[in-house]
Amino acid sequence: MAKDVIIACDFSSAEETLDFLDLFEDRKPFVKIGMELFYSAGPEIVEEIKARGHKIFLDLKLHDIPNTVRKSMAVLSSLDVDMTNVHAAGTIEMMKAAVEGLTRVDGSRPLLVAVTQLTSTSEERMRRDLLIDAPINEVIAHYASNAAEAGLDGVVCSPLESSLVKERCGSSFLTVTPGIRFADAASDDQVRITTPARAREIGSDYIVVGRPVTAAPDPVAAYERCLREFLGE
Ligand code: C5P
Repeated sequence: MAKDVIIACDFSSAEETLDFLDLFEDRKPFVKIGMELFYSAGPEIVEEIKARGHKIFLDLKLHDIPNTVRKSMAVLSSLDVDMTNVHAAGTIEMMKAAVEGLTRVDGSRPLLVAVTQLTSTSEERMRRDLLIDAPINEVIAHYASNAAEAGLDGVVCSPLESSLVKERCGSSFLTVTPGIRFADAASDDQVRITTPARAREIGSDYIVVGRPVTAAPDPVAAYERCLREFLGE
């Protein structure tokens, strides 16, 4: 199974993003494009980054009625991204519709992963705001198994939840994990964090790394450190 480091390109303009990617010269990191950049720069930024030879995780977290998600996923699929996502809270039916929409006529499709519970949602908030009474780990494992049942490839979760997800859904079910920090660095606003090396040990398939690379004095060196630690290269 391919393991990789995905750089979260949390920039608000195409120009800033492309200037950042220019630093990498002949390296072509897997990049994550989120809502901020997609809504400001549009599908053209996806096409441009793809044309430069990068793999793309388009992190738009779709959550709507199944028919709308099916049709929207068909549009994203034609952008030729490599990975995209939905909210598992949209139900198994919605996730199945996402798989259908994403699947191209030749049967191929980008990887599709589901957000279980956002890491910004605490157990207390879930109980109070969402009226979900189960323990948060039980909710995460249940949503992950719903995603597996719908035919998705994996989930986005904290690296500390990877083993829980793998136990419930099998070792080939992908875990894509943000919340990564170097051992000697600040945690910023992330709470449940771990290092690239530890994420590998506890079962992450893809780590999503933002500020430790984008805000580093030498982003290329920081990215290479992530690769070395995570892949053991
Ligand atoms: O800068 P940092 O490494 O914290 O960036 C992590 C990236 O992963 C950001 O794009 C953030 O939105 C995203 N993310 C996260 N936690 C989640 C889901 C996504 O940090 N549960």
